[in-house]
Amino acid sequence: MTDSKILYGGDYNPEQWPRPVWEEDYAAFDKASIDTLTLNVFSWATLQPDEDTYDFTQLDAIVARAVEGGRGVVLATSTGALPPWLAHRHPEVERTDFQGRRHVYGQRHNACPSSPVYRRLSAELAGRIAERYAGTPGLVAWHVGNEYGGFDGGCWCDLCAAGFRDWLRVRYGTLERLNEAWNATFWSHTFSDWAQIVPPNMLSEHWRGPDHTAFQGITLDYRRFMSDAMLANFRDEKARIREHDATTPVTTNFMGMFRPIDYHRWAGDLDFASWDNYPPGQREHVRMALAHDVMRGIKAGDPFWVMEQTPTITASRDVNPVKRPGVLRLWSWQAVAHGADAVLYFQMRQSRGACERYHGAVLDHAGRTDTRAFREVAALGSELAGLGDAVVAARTPARVALLFDWDSWWAAEMTDGFNRHARYVDTVLSYYRALWQAGAQVDVVPTTADLTRYDVVLAPMLHVLKGDVAQRLAAVTERGGSVLASYWSGRADENANAHLMDAPGPLAPLFGVRVEETDSAEPGVTNPVTLTDGSGEAVSAAELVFEVLVPEGADVVGTYGTEFYAGTPAVTRHRPAGSEGGEAWYVGTGLDDAGAAWVVRRLLDRHGLVGPYADVPDVELAVRAKDGVRFAFVLSHATEPVEVAAHASGVDLLTGRAVRAGETLRLAPTDVVLLREDLPGEAA
Ligand code: GAL
Repeated sequence: MTDSKILYGGDYNPEQWPRPVWEEDYAAFDKASIDTLTLNVFSWATLQPDEDTYDFTQLDAIVARAVEGGRGVVLATSTGALPPWLAHRHPEVERTDFQGRRHVYGQRHNACPSSPVYRRLSAELAGRIAERYAGTPGLVAWHVGNEYGGFDGGCWCDLCAAGFRDWLRVRYGTLERLNEAWNATFWSHTFSDWAQIVPPNMLSEHWRGPDHTAFQGITLDYRRFMSDAMLANFRDEKARIREHDATTPVTTNFMGMFRPIDYHRWAGDLDFASWDNYPPGQREHVRMALAHDVMRGIKAGDPFWVMEQTPTITASRDVNPVKRPGVLRLWSWQAVAHGADAVLYFQMRQSRGACERYHGAVLDHAGRTDTRAFREVAALGSELAGLGDAVVAARTPARVALLFDWDSWWAAEMTDGFNRHARYVDTVLSYYRALWQAGAQVDVVPTTADLTRYDVVLAPMLHVLKGDVAQRLAAVTERGGSVLASYWSGRADENANAHLMDAPGPLAPLFGVRVEETDSAEPGVTNPVTLTDGSGEAVSAAELVFEVLVPEGADVVGTYGTEFYAGTPAVTRHRPAGSEGGEAWYVGTGLDDAGAAWVVRRLLDRHGLVGPYADVPDVELAVRAKDGVRFAFVLSHATEPVEVAAHASGVDLLTGRAVRAGETLRLAPTDVVLLREDLPGEAA
């Protein structure tokens, strides 16, 4: 990876247009300060026209032109879409969907991950590409496959069934252990031969779709297996790349909070994380911040890349609004603020045909450089170039951790009983939103992460409690820190079986509370929860889940206002004996945003972690630091102008303007200030 600047550019598919157009493209790239091109994402059919023939003529020309133009190259392996001949000759490479239908040739992200033919030929292609292009001047990274799990998140064919059985043999060793883990005596599921095990889909354990399974343990294991099967595909290719190139980093483009794949299981195999940022709406700045932080958490806080974002519109949604003026810049800086060292687009020039021909691009079909979109792209390019290496490799100095856990996501959302409207990401997001608005710097980490550096650790809906998480959360309180868990936490073990004890299971002693009943209601049906702790009071319209709590050492902080459990605890705070003043908060209900903010602010306050702009709605503070210097990004997602008092003295690196602590910063909507804070004692 280069450390000279934030990389800028993106997916470029010049194979779709005549050579003279390439020259127009490069002239435009110069105007927009585009330094990095991702090449060869979907060219398998051209690179290998049949099983025995490889032809690199076209890619040679594309790579040569990029090198001649002095661009950094991100070289993809082209294995994200099958060529027609391959599917025709070896139908096994096509996926079987969740309904059990074997697909025929079409679309992309369409390979069965367990197919030996796919594995052999994809690895072979990656190896040949690496052999040919290793050492290419400016080669920045290898991009394996594309958006693993795209399509419908997996394959349910006979080859995958066999792979699943192998995976289970490794995990459990014996059928006795497997039957125990799956609680197979329920509905007479005791397996007496490995061959009896089939993938859980609509032909077997599921009804109504992926979230309705008769056996959570089986489906949970299949999801883990499928995530590992695709990881094996990535490893196949990476191994072949490494035969020819020992050092250039290898990645693949993730999709943020994408349920089908447990990205944490991939962490050790990636040299850096990257992801494609296509927010579902126009006011998604908090969700994007969370997704960036999830991505940064994959590699323990190392910088990541935005591998793709659209400069203007997407094409895949029913309605595809354009990014409003200034939004591209704002969202790009937000990515950098959260740890991105590259901001790349899909795509450099619009596709000529097929389903993405109207997807936004740096250059439209006419190749114009006098459009609003191009001007905004170019202005951002020049701003990034001007910044140089200032924030490259800088890290987020977070003292708050939020646990994010795919097992809990999977298990909670496929659980019968309780309330299917309570969704994992919504719950996580409600707590993250409170942290974000408060201006806390947050690491979003797997449950296995080292928690010793954090003052505050949040575990929303940590449904599956594995390993020593309970002890490590307790250790946070023992040294004076604060932890929070929300409803449904601690209920299930790693096989999604209930712990044979009071909920929240092994977390109960730490939180000093037990759950006696779990009530649920339709969305929109609320129960007013009065929150009070002596220093303030609030009423939160809680919804969806209402756990009836019995304190066992904890203080009551919130009580329900209605229902037969009116006046009983909804939120508790425990100060475990022997801890250095630590606190363990348990929230048994779906607090609204104001309620979540009330609780979260109290945890942050204990450690002085409420930020300076906490009371200015939609103004974000995100910090990166390196070599003892702090870079504070102040980003206005507000729809009206706001004024804030600068929290520190320093220099706005985007304007060169000196800023004094306390002076008024006037922020128009979409404004960004990047303050290199003065070191203590340094004159402003
Ligand atoms: C991504 C994908 C790209 C392109 C883009 C369009 O998901 O990786 O190839 O399809 O979406 O938004």
